[in-house]
This record gives sequence, structure tokens and C-alpha cells, in this order.
Amino acid sequence: MKLLAAAVAAALLAACAQPSPQPLASPGTAPAPQAAQARESDIDALMQRMTLQEKIGQLRLRSVDAGPDARKEVLLDEIRTGQVGAIFNTVTRPDIRVLQDAAMQSRLKIPLFFAYDVIHGHRTVFPIGLGLASSWDMDAIARSGRVSAIEANADGLNLTFSPMVDISRDPRWGRNSEGYGEDTYLTSRIGATLVKAYQGDDPSAPGTIMASVKHFAMYGAIEGARDYNTVDMSPQRMYQDYLPPYKAAIDAGAAGVMVALNAVNGVPATADKWLLQDLLRKQWGFKGITISDHGAILELLRHGVAADGRDAARLAIQAGTDLSMNDKVYGTDLEPLVKSGEVAIADIDRAVRDVLRVKYDLGLFRDAYRHVGRAADDPADNDAENRLHRADARDVARRSLVLLKNSASTLPLRKQGTIAVIGPLARSQRDVMGNWSAAGKARQAVSVYQGLAEATAGRATLRYAKGANVIDDARIVTYLNEFEKDVEVDSRTPRAMIDEAVQAARASDVVVAVVGESQGMAHEASSRTDIVIPDSQRALLRALKATGKPLVIVLMNGRPLALEWEDANADAMLETWYAGTEGGHAIADVLFGDYNPSGKLPMTFPRVVGQVPLYYNHLNTGRPFDPARPNKYTSRYFDHENGPLYPFGYGLSYTTFDLSGVTLSTAQLARGGKLTASVTVRNSGQRDGETVVQLYVQDPVASISRPVKELKGFSKIFLKAGESRVVSFEIGDAQMGFYDGQGRFNVEPGRFNVYLGLDSRDANVASFVLR
Ligand code: BGC
Repeated sequence: MKLLAAAVAAALLAACAQPSPQPLASPGTAPAPQAAQARESDIDALMQRMTLQEKIGQLRLRSVDAGPDARKEVLLDEIRTGQVGAIFNTVTRPDIRVLQDAAMQSRLKIPLFFAYDVIHGHRTVFPIGLGLASSWDMDAIARSGRVSAIEANADGLNLTFSPMVDISRDPRWGRNSEGYGEDTYLTSRIGATLVKAYQGDDPSAPGTIMASVKHFAMYGAIEGARDYNTVDMSPQRMYQDYLPPYKAAIDAGAAGVMVALNAVNGVPATADKWLLQDLLRKQWGFKGITISDHGAILELLRHGVAADGRDAARLAIQAGTDLSMNDKVYGTDLEPLVKSGEVAIADIDRAVRDVLRVKYDLGLFRDAYRHVGRAADDPADNDAENRLHRADARDVARRSLVLLKNSASTLPLRKQGTIAVIGPLARSQRDVMGNWSAAGKARQAVSVYQGLAEATAGRATLRYAKGANVIDDARIVTYLNEFEKDVEVDSRTPRAMIDEAVQAARASDVVVAVVGESQGMAHEASSRTDIVIPDSQRALLRALKATGKPLVIVLMNGRPLALEWEDANADAMLETWYAGTEGGHAIADVLFGDYNPSGKLPMTFPRVVGQVPLYYNHLNTGRPFDPARPNKYTSRYFDHENGPLYPFGYGLSYTTFDLSGVTLSTAQLARGGKLTASVTVRNSGQRDGETVVQLYVQDPVASISRPVKELKGFSKIFLKAGESRVVSFEIGDAQMGFYDGQGRFNVEPGRFNVYLGLDSRDANVASFVLR
């Protein structure tokens, strides 16, 4: 141990003294040829020295679970004997160092790498995925990614299981909260932005971590939005709508791909050779690692494609699943499978090479402690306040808030008089962080109440009442509280809580009701059959409405909700998702007008759950419904108003923006050419503000039916009150073409419609013809 420490210290000194070696590009991008050659020959040399067991050890990604010391001893022993390749769920430098020390005691001293779910921030928690997406602000999103990488790397971490780019058109799915919504183009842009922000140009550099895009593929299209369910999809929809975001992340250089838990068209992704080899590697040229999702290899048994563990291990490795996340079967079954000739050693070698390449590019072979640093430099307190990036979190959070309604300029509020702050989420520090925020500390998060209190200190009086439990249904509370305390149930009766809230409201000038879903309601394994605000809180809202005081609803939730009642009864409504560590400050900034809201919805909000899936880029059908001329035999529901409550791309501001008609640089375009579509945007209101100009394109006559419109560009702009600006977009093949059922990208001549607007519903249109 002493010797090892001396060797490490010497290596560290050497690393400081020498100029750093030529950086290698991330595995997804092509490294300089010489560097790549050196890497491959170093890996060749190492692999020649590895036994079969040591190779298999590299394919095991193990979780460190908190638990009895004996369990940790078992893990350390596995590491020392070369049976583990990488670790996840460790999140402090001292813990990581102990594990790396064990790897340095193994025969070949192959370093471990350390992964974690750094999903929307790390120590500092940023808004959840849907919130980030609502900003439509790539600089802000990149900032969240950079801060995440800096903080995660400062904890010794090397790789994150992010970004999650699963397109979803169904709000019932709890994991909508982690993704970026329903749109392919927006999600692709965000995925690529985050990959670059996490990885930088050199994944071995301080302050960077590798990205692994997930869940490959099409997890967001599970039937009925019931988590882990199956996916059945036409090839054209797959190529056109669901696959591009993964491809965009890979093109941006993502080092890893996490394989989805679901099956697609009957084949579980973990065993899908077409997906993991033909598409991912051969067509897309991916060179990084594939990682199974948690326990997914053994789940091949219950999917009904493997007879036993051995069969499952064989299918997964042959399909191209490199790393097994917390399944035993690679460890127990791959060796006999190779010995019996059922699995070729080439399959093992290919996967091992992928893993070693990642470690090489992380710089771990040069210095296994490269990212974890020296013990002497460990933070005295992992949660120290000065490790947080609060200013970044606050700024990104306020950009993520979406103003859904604001009648009679109820907002912004004035910092005076008495404000009732009511609701079960108003004082919650845990909920405001959202789920997948395990390195964040709730006690460091700013609740809405705290944000409002600080903003009004000395100027207005706040009156607080909880008013209701998040949910009263005991069965649901038990479900939500099974693994982590999610919902606090008050011992008072609902009546008593509402009475207290009504009293507070009556004694105030305005009511701010903070309602929605607890963070655990919008998580993995949190699918809902209904998407309304739970009854307990709806009853509270009704009682507050009855006081006649102006009612401002502040929503906290991780999926689109059905908000018809709230829309009809609130004077103003702000969608805040789960806004992160600085959520309360950011929300106060918007409620008091210190920041003018600019967020736009990345998912359609239906009126009622029975309408889902409801998404803006649908096909027209042969009998489209026209709200202006409703007709019986059209594609509609007869028992409810049709169309969304809030369309994709929608969001208000405290100012107003006017749009001119669309100008095209030409009405006739030659094949292979480009044209420019422009619109003049004017801030016609009284305040400075930002908005998002959105470009949609429609190919109304093609060889297959094409959507009524598809997002193909956007630009977030800031305009001073009274200011105008021309906003232009280039339109070429990338905006006009589409993938067919064979995965071919076609651009077909004919007429195209170009829409420019501030949401997907109200947009101005012009047409051109492609010759
Ligand atoms: C989730 C992944 C996550 C993994 C590791 C799984 O249950 O599906 O998204 O990265 O756990 O925590």
C-alpha cells in the first residue's frame, strides 16, 4: 500500500512536470491518426497479456450500494482479482480512491472508470430535462452541462448516463421529466449540445466527463406509456422521428450509448444485433462503448428470448452489449460460453477493446488517479456551499419557466401588501430539485416560499399554509414512499388544512398556489393513467378560487398535465417543472418581473388524458378535423373539445411580439439549392423581453404522407421594448427531406410550406416550389 502510494505520488509528480501528452479526441470523433494508432497498439499489447477472465472482468459495470462493510469487501476483492471494469453510484473522491487503489492491486493494474447519473446537474441541480428544453436556449443548456461536468469531475467521476434523448408523445410516462419532449429537432439539438458541454474537446481534461446517450432506442415510445413496456413502430417513424436524436448525440462525439430496457418490434434492445451493430456501428460509425441498462441482460429471460442466464449472456454479447450493468451473468457465463465455442473470443475482444479505449481516452492509463486527484486535495466537505454554482443555476432556471396564462396582467406581482403562499409544494426543498438529483442536497435548494420571502423581505408580508397533501390516496402514498420518502402526509384532516389556507387567502391581496406532482410522481416507474392535479390539491384550488382573490397557480410537475380547470379558473399560471437548487429564486424573479419569462413548451399539453398521444407534428389523415368547420366524419373526439390546451412551442411573455408575414428569397428553388425565409419580429409591448422564433416546414404532397408541420429551426432573440429585428433561416435539403421506411433520406420536388411563428399553432406561412 505504501509502495503503491509512492508510485502514485511519483506518477502525479511526473504528470505535473511533463508537458501533457497529445490529447485524444473522444471515441465518437476521429482522433488524430497517429494518436489513434498509438492507442490501438497499446491496447493490443495489453490485451495480449490479459487472461479470458480478466477480459470478461472489464465488461462488468458494478454498482456500489451503501450497505454492510462485508458487501464492500466482496466488491474490493472482485476488483483486486480483475473481475470488475467500471463502477457506478460512487460519488466522493475518498470512496473512488479506495476502489481505484484496489484496481491498482490487481495483476494488470487496469484502472476502473467511474460513472454516475449526472442528469440535470450534480451538486448544483439545474432544471429537469423538460425544463431545460423549455428554455430553447442552447447557451443556457450548455452552461448546465459544463457545470455538471466540472462538478462531477471534481468528485472524481468520469462518465455520465446522460443525455436522455428518448422522444415521447405520451405525458403519462413518468420519464418525460428526464427528456426534452416530443420533438426530434429540438431534442437532437439539446442532445448534441450537452454531449459537447460534458466532454469538451478532450475527455481526459480536468472538468470534463464522458457522455453516454440513452436509452437506445425508442424507450419513449413504450405502449400506453407504461414504463418498461414494449415498442412497436413503423420503420419510417423510427428513422424520421425517433432515431435522429441518438444519432445527433453520437455525431457530437458521445463516448457511450446506454441500451434501452424495452423491445422494439419484438426484439429486446439488449439482444438486438441490428440496432447495436448494423445501425449503430456500421451505418453510424459509432466507436465507443455500449452499456446495458440496469439488470437488462437477465431481463432477456422475462422478455422471452433467453432460456436462462447463459443464454442471456450469449445473446447480449453477440448483439454488441459491451458492458453489463449490475448483472452477474457476464461474470458467471461468458467464460464457459467461450470455452464451449458458443461465443467467439472475437465478440469478447471487440467489447473489451471498446472499454479499454474509453479508459485510454480518459487518460486513466497515464494516471489512474487523474480525475480523483490527491487525498490531500479532497474537499473537507463534499456539500460545501462554495462547490455550488448558484448564479448559473438561477439564470438557467428562470429561462426554463413557461408562462401559460396571464389575464389582466395579474403578473408580475408587486412586492407589497400581503401574499398568501399556499400549497403542499410551496415549501418543499426536495421537490423543487426534481428526481435524478441524488448528489444534490435538498437543504441547499431554495423553495418557492423562500424565494418569495427573500424577494419581498421588508416590503410585503407572506402568509403560508400547506392547504392539502400532494395526494391523499393511501395506496398511492405507499407506492411513492416505498424506496424514498416522497410524500409527507399531514395528520390534519383535508378540511382543516383547506380552512387554514382559505383564512390565509382571505387575509391577503393575492394567492400564489404552488401545486402539482411530487418529484417521485414524475420519475422512473411512475407512469400515470391520469394526468390531472390530484384531487386533494384540486379541492384546495377550488376553495382558494371561491375566496375571490386573484389566483396565481405555480405548477411543479414533470410531464404535461391536463389543466382545463386550472386554465379556466386561474388568473395566471406559471409552469416551473422542477427548477433545481435555485428554483425558488428563479420563480420569484419571474413572478415579480425581475426576469421576463421566455420559456416555450417542448411538449403539447392535452385537454384531457383521453386525447393522448397528442403531438403537433402528426399526419393529416384523409379526414382531418378542422376546428373552424367542425364536421362529424372527421378525425376527432365527439365528447370533448378537440386539439391541445397549450400547443407545442407555446409560452407567454410580459411583453407582446408582433410578426410580419414570411418573406422567401425565392419562390422557385433548384434541386440542391438553398433559400432564406425571413420574418420581422417587433417587441410591441412595454417591457424588454426574449422570445423564440420557430421555423416549421411542411411537404404537403410527397410519396408518403408527411406531417402537417415539423420544426426545422428556431432562434431565441432578445428585443428591447419597441425594437424590431429580422430573423432569417436557411432552408435546404436538411429541412425539406425525410427518411423513408428503408432509412433512405429523400428530398422530393414540389411545393413546400414554410411557417414562422412563436408557437406551433399560430404561425405565418409562405410557399415555394422545389424544381
Ligand atoms: C435507468 C437508467 C439509469 C440506470 C443507472 C436505470 O434504472 O433506466 O436511465 O442510468 O438505472 O442508474
